[in-house]
This record gives sequence, C-alpha cells and structure tokens, in this order.
Amino acid sequence: MSSFAENVDEKVTLENMMQKRGSQKWNTYDPDVIPLYFCSPDYPVPTEVKDAASKAINDECFEYPWFPETVEAMAETTRTKYGIESTAEDLMVVPGVMPSLWLSTMYACKPGDEVILPSMIFGPFIRAIDYVNAKPVYHELRQEENWRFDIERLKELITKKTKLIFVCNPHNPTGRVMTKEELKGIADIAVDHDLIVASDELHADIIYDGRKHISIASLGPEIADKTISIYGLSKTFGLAGMQIGWLVATNKVILEGINKVAGDLIQGTTSISLAIAHAVLTKCDHYIPPLVEYLQELRDYGTKRLNTMNNVEVGSPEGTYVLWPNISGYGLSSSEMSEYLLKTGRVATTDGSRHGPTGEGYLRVIFPTSKTIFNEGLDRMEEALSKL
Ligand SMILES: Cc1ncc(COP(=O)(O)O)c(C=O)c1O
Repeated sequence: MSSFAENVDEKVTLENMMQKRGSQKWNTYDPDVIPLYFCSPDYPVPTEVKDAASKAINDECFEYPWFPETVEAMAETTRTKYGIESTAEDLMVVPGVMPSLWLSTMYACKPGDEVILPSMIFGPFIRAIDYVNAKPVYHELRQEENWRFDIERLKELITKKTKLIFVCNPHNPTGRVMTKEELKGIADIAVDHDLIVASDELHADIIYDGRKHISIASLGPEIADKTISIYGLSKTFGLAGMQIGWLVATNKVILEGINKVAGDLIQGTTSISLAIAHAVLTKCDHYIPPLVEYLQELRDYGTKRLNTMNNVEVGSPEGTYVLWPNISGYGLSSSEMSEYLLKTGRVATTDGSRHGPTGEGYLRVIFPTSKTIFNEGLDRMEEALSKL
C-alpha cells in the first residue's frame, strides 16, 4: 500500500470528516449524510502546501501580492505539462476556474451570440452564457458513443452567430478524456470559422489507465491563437478554498480583451494562495501518481458496485472522479431520485438535470474519499434503491 493510501485510510474517517470545519462538502447536509455530491477531495493536502501557507503567514504576506515566481511556475507548467508554447506574458492569474469561464464568455460574446457546448456539462458554463444573454447551442453527447464529440454533428451547429466553443477536457460529468482526433476536429472547425475555444482542463491530472491528457492549444499555433486554456489546482490538490487558477491566451488581443473585462473586479488571487501555488507547481508532482492510483481503484470499485445495483448502468470514467450512472429505469426524475437517496439513504448525490439538457435520467456521484466512506455511501445507495 502506498503511503498516500495509508495516510488516507488513517485520516479520512467518517468521524474526522464529520468534524471537518470550513468545508461545504461536509457541512451542507446533516452530519449523518455521506456527501457523494461535491467535486472536492477529502485527502490530506501535500505537506508542502501547509509549509508554504505557514511561511507566508509568518512572513506577513498580507499586502497587495507580488509573486512573479508563481506566475513563472504557472507558465513553466503550461509549457512543459500542457505543451502550449507560451510565456508568463500570455497568462492571467484568476481566483479559480469558474471566473475564467465567465471571463471567457463575457469577452467572446454579446447578447444573441451562440456558444456551442456539450449537452451534459458543469453548471457554471451554462450560467455564464445566460448571464451575457447569449444562446447555448448543445452538442449532444451520447452514452452509446462513449460521450465523444462527433465532429460531423458539431459542424451542423455552426451558424453566423456562433462565437465560442466550450471544451471541458477531461469532462465533468461524464469523465471522458478527449482524443487527439476529436480535439483536432474541434480545432479545425474553430480555425475555419474564426471561433474562440475556451478549454477547461481543471481535471487534467486525474486520468486513468495510462491515458494522456492533450491540451487543444498544444495542437499547433493556429488553434493556440484561438484558444483560452484554463487551469486550476482545486481538484488535484484539494485547494478549492484557496481559489487558485490561471488562464492562458497566446493571442494578445484575446488576453488584453479578457483583462479589460476583468477590470478591477477580478484581481488575481490572495498572497497566501500564490505562495501555496508556487509550492504545488514546483514541489508537489510526487503527490499525483499515488493519488491517481488510489482514485483508479475507487473508480473500478464504484463502477462495479453501481452496475450490480438494480436498474443502474454506469460506464467507467476515463478521467476525473465523477461517476455518471443512468438511473432512468426507476421511473423517477433525477431530482426525485437524488431527493429520495438523501432522505431515505442519507447519501447526497447530484441531480443530473442540473448538468444540461440531456442530464435528466442521470445522477452525479463523486468519489474522492476513503474506501471506507465510499463503500458506506454505496451501501446506503444500494439499500435505498432496493426499497423502490
Ligand atoms: C470542470 C470544472 N470546472 C471548474 C470547476 C470549478 O473550479 P474552481 O473551484 O477552480 O473554480 C469545477 C468544479 O467542480 C469543475 O468540475
């Protein structure tokens, strides 16, 4: 067993989690509810994170921040890990990934413009489009196609009003990891039709079965010139409360436009967060392989368990820590099912209909916790479902 797994098994117990302070995941519902609904890991953060935070506090890093070394580390990560030819001049620090989705939409769209996005998607993508009074145009993801982007169907969605294509790779909520061919198809369309691509790659570290993450902007200078690549540290390192993210646009016009939209409203992130980000990006790569190994076991276990439950069908996610079971066989809506599981099973899941127009019939089940807690959550689901 890896020391990561030992540490998780020792520290991520139900008793410890129920006393966890400052965590939405563990405090939104009654303490006896198992939260398999919040996309946030329960794992102890790397010790380097705690050391960096303590040092920043002891050094009284509370002023307007000045951390050029963190911006350099983000640029270095963008180049070496994501393969995008870029420098620190091409990036903007943002307080988490969600603001980047909003900034990209506000920059690229005016009212009436059209945005193409997957028909199952993380909710804030949809809210950002609504906010600017643009129109979401959904590319239908199909279970029988393993949730891939179908390039021919995508082409049919382009109109004169299309301005932006949203990519979420790896994809929340289906766990799909996009192939080079799919990304190349999207890139060709964006270049041919002069569209901007906003690519949320927040889950890029969590990839299973030896697959590789590919950034769409790494495919060549033409598509890099059209792409806003979006990164953050919340999912891998359990740092959502630190609000750390960055976006990359090698096209100066796009980056300047986004900076203008951000104005004085969004000004990077806090000094403590920037100190932590530096430690993560320069010292914490060692944390990722045992994390992914642990998650892959949970993925296999969760997929197997869910598929043995009556009327539940789930595919095996290629990345992320999201399971997306089809529960339509029960004849309940997704919202009725998640309510039922919460009330009867004391287990919290997310209603799939909150994830776009084809999310009805699905539940989102999040599993980055200990094996014991995940097992308890699945036992409760199974028992509640057996009563239906
Ligand atoms: C695909 C995706 N993008 C963005 C976010 C939010 O990221 P952040 O907490 O960095 O704003 C999430 C959180 O679940 C997510 O799954």
